[in-house]
Parts: sequence; C-alpha cells; structure tokens
Amino acid sequence: MKVHEYGSDFHLPVPSEFLLDAADTPFFHGTNFSFYASGRAALFHLLDHGIKSLGWTDVYLPSYYCHDVSRFIQPLPIMIHFYDCVPGFKGPLGSGYIKDSKTSVLVLNSCFGMALPQHDDFSQLTIVEDITHHLEGLIDCESDFTFGSLRKELPMPMGGFVYTKKTNTLNEIPVTAGAMDLCNHRMEAMIKKGSFLEGNSKDKSSYRNLFLTTELNFEMAEIRGGLPRTAMEILSTLNVEAILARKQRNLSLMLKNLNNHDAFKVLTADGRATPFGLTLHFSVKEKRDAFKAYAVQNNLYPAILWPDQVDQKDKEWEDGLLFVHVDYRYDDQDILAMASLINNFDLNG
Ligand SMILES: Cc1ncc(COP(=O)(O)O)c(C=O)c1O
Repeated sequence: MKVHEYGSDFHLPVPSEFLLDAADTPFFHGTNFSFYASGRAALFHLLDHGIKSLGWTDVYLPSYYCHDVSRFIQPLPIMIHFYDCVPGFKGPLGSGYIKDSKTSVLVLNSCFGMALPQHDDFSQLTIVEDITHHLEGLIDCESDFTFGSLRKELPMPMGGFVYTKKTNTLNEIPVTAGAMDLCNHRMEAMIKKGSFLEGNSKDKSSYRNLFLTTELNFEMAEIRGGLPRTAMEILSTLNVEAILARKQRNLSLMLKNLNNHDAFKVLTADGRATPFGLTLHFSVKEKRDAFKAYAVQNNLYPAILWPDQVDQKDKEWEDGLLFVHVDYRYDDQDILAMASLINNFDLNG
C-alpha cells in the first residue's frame, strides 16, 4: 500500500506525465548554459570567471540567504558584502551601499519565488540572478547572468547551472570523482525513498541517513566540478514546464482551501505566477515549532529555509518561517488532505 507522507527530498522514479517525449526540446537546452555539481558550485565558477576575465572585485549578496552558498565562495579572491534583504523585501537597492562599478557584482535572489527587489538604475555593475526558487525566471530574465540549483524544484540528485545571454560562456569544468560518487549515493537515496512511498520497503532510516550524510558533502571543495553525466541524463528527460505548472495548480488549490489562522500568515508572491511553494510566517518561533512538531506527527515534513541566518533581523525571520512543499508529487486529494491538516492545527491543542 502506498505511504501518504508529504514534503522533504524528492524521490525517483518520476511519473511519466512529468517526463518528456523523445521529440520534445528540454527546458535547459542550448549553448548558453553551463552545468555544475551544485548551485553553489555554479556561483563559484561564475565568480571565478568574472574575477579572471572581467576584473570583478566585490560581490553583494542578500543578507537573508542560503549561507551554505556564501561560505562556499569564500576561498575566492573577491570581497563579499551583504545587503539588508529579508523575505519580501521590495527594495529599492541603491548606490548608497552598493558600489556601481564595473568591478562589482550584485546578486539578486528570487527568495521563495517572490519578485526580485527593485534597484537603482545601475550603469556599471553586473547583475546576477539566483533563480533557484523560480526556474521560470529563465524565460524572461534580463540580467547579465542567471544561476541556480537544480534540486530544489526538480527531482534531481544534484546540480546547478549558469545561464548567460552573452557570448562569453564559461569554460567547461571537469566532473570530479567525488561528484560522481555523491550523485550515485543521492540517486540511491531517491530510489529507496520511491520504494518506501510505494509501500515496497519499510526501511525509512537508510534513505533518510543517506540524504542527511550526502547533504554535508555538498560543502566539500571537491564537489566543485561539473555535473555528472547520470544527473545530466535525468535533467534531459524532465518535463520542467509540466512539473512547475502542477505546482502552481496545487498552490492555488491549497490557497483556496486554507482558512485564515491566528498562528500564521501565508507569504504571497505578488506579481509572480509561480511561487516556490506554500510559505508560512509565524509571529514567534514557539508557534512555528509547535506547528512543525504537529505537522511531522501527521507525516507532513515542512522545511526551514534557511537555517543559520547571521544577522539578528534575518534570524527573527528564519525563526518564523516554514515552507510546505506543494509540488508535482501531489495530486488534488493530497493537497486537500494537507490543507485540512493545516486548518486543524490547534495552537492550544
Ligand atoms: C536560493 C539558493 N541558492 C543556491 C543554493 C545552493 O544550491 P545547492 O545546494 O545545489 O548548492 C540554494 C540551496 O539551498 C538556495 O536555496
């Protein structure tokens, strides 16, 4: 019997309705893409390219960010600055803090799929968009460079990309043995999870442990190369448009069925057709933690994005946020079951 649990890492195999036919063109195609072992490796190599070929000296990152990424780029000879940017920040980002110079790089993040912050009409600096949470951003992106992780919206074991409309594409980086090993282990975890969800195996701890231990490997400098071929092959089979469209449909259904709740507000992504998922904002950490414990008890596994914020203001946001997955893995019945579970949360219960 199928196991009904929601959230956390993606599993394999992917249902055929989310796979391309042989004649279809993949979403990630063409010569403007470079692929890497992870999203953080993608930014690393983009910055490395900019430092060596374009004279970049300073990079500006949002303060509320996945700091696994900011730690990963630290070995590069570039000054890292953080600009104040909590989720939902609309800007404008101005030249008061950000130096508008040919040697500056401004990273804008589509946090939870929300609109990018507005910014001054910079004439010199390079803008880089992180669209990890909003892969549709590729369709109308105007920035000089775009990058992202492939495993947050797609059932990929690992991967990241850089996209540029410019002709100076990045040098190809070899795949490391460590990345191939990591890819195999991540795929093993995804397949084991698939088998568990189908009711063919009772062994949950082995895939959970594999996900947890392999997650740490993404921090290693060795996982800084290209994207292993097995992962590229999965990517070329995915019907990315269908995967993302289902999430949008699921989110609409969820929002229609969610009652107002005293404990939290839903973070909305104005103007954006495809938010990353259902993002809940609680006024205090205790309420967030109580909801999370309740959800987990009921087989719904939400995520805290991102743990380990640095600034006090960002930590306060982190403590109030919880992300609920509503992606292509779920059908209408699943979404209604999740909505009812969330509606039934009793803070005093
Ligand atoms: C917005 C954002 N950018 C980049 C990354 C890095 O991706 P990866 O884990 O593939 O290195 C993450 C990871 O969580 C992320 O959330």
